Amino acid sequence: MLRSFVGAAAAVLVGLAALPLASAGNLTSLEGTWSSGSGSVQTGLNFFNPATNTFTTPKAGGISYSFTGDGHWEQAKYMFNTSSAVNRCVTAYMIWQHGTYTINANGSLSLSPFPADGYMQMIDICGRQTIKMFSYNQFELIPQWYIYLDSAPGFLSAGSTAYALQMFQDGGDGQAGKAMAPLFLTARPANMLPTTQLHEQVINQAFRTT
Ligand SMILES: *[C@@H]1O[C@H](CO)[C@@H](O)[C@H](O)[C@H]1NC(C)=O
Ligand SMILES: *[C@@H]1O[C@H](CO)[C@@H](O)[C@H](O)[C@H]1NC(C)=O
Ligand SMILES: *[C@@H]1O[C@H](CO)[C@@H](O)[C@H](O)[C@H]1NC(C)=O
Repeated sequence: MLRSFVGAAAAVLVGLAALPLASAGNLTSLEGTWSSGSGSVQTGLNFFNPATNTFTTPKAGGISYSFTGDGHWEQAKYMFNTSSAVNRCVTAYMIWQHGTYTINANGSLSLSPFPADGYMQMIDICGRQTIKMFSYNQFELIPQWYIYLDSAPGFLSAGSTAYALQMFQDGGDGQAGKAMAPLFLTARPANMLPTTQLHEQVINQAFRTT
């Protein structure tokens, strides 16, 4: 896939980790909702309802992150686990969490969840479909990231451009690991659920099986 980086973003690719945000890949601000692929997975009420703790299954898999300008983030993921070789059954899972983020001095992002609020739902398509809900909270360090203008965003017609956020997984020791799928800016301001903590207690383990 062809991607043309505008000058500022390309220059930033070198030694990004050492630069503060103000000069690091900050082609536009992080603020907004960012979504992979054609945007089937988006943060917000259409993905997760915190009043009933229920997920709405998106049409296709993907990931989405949202950020506010005042340090809040939200995450939505709908993924398929293809590595269950044992019985060749497809396991799908959805994750929702939110919390606060900081941009660290070395340019990395620390995403801290509100532990009481996050959930993961696993769906085992084999035989009879089992659905399990778990309390979920996972701190994420994004060691490296940058924003660029994507000239071939795929889901738009030829000639269109879209802001894209490229984040990297934590490769250990704070170093950038594998590149995540690029996320495209789909809403600004972000489409998010209330950014404050919603629940007071963490309920451990599976509490519901249907
Ligand atoms: C860079 O990020 C800062 C902080 O989010 C923001 O205030 C600023 O507007 C951004 N720069 C551009 C060009 O959008
Ligand atoms: C994915 O499959 C592997 C291997 O069966 C298993 O260890 C892992 O827990 C699964 N992860 C999820 C999120 O289903
Ligand atoms: C960058 O800063 C974060 C937060 O302080 C830290 O966890 C991470 O290890 C640092 N990365 C490197 C490469 O030192």
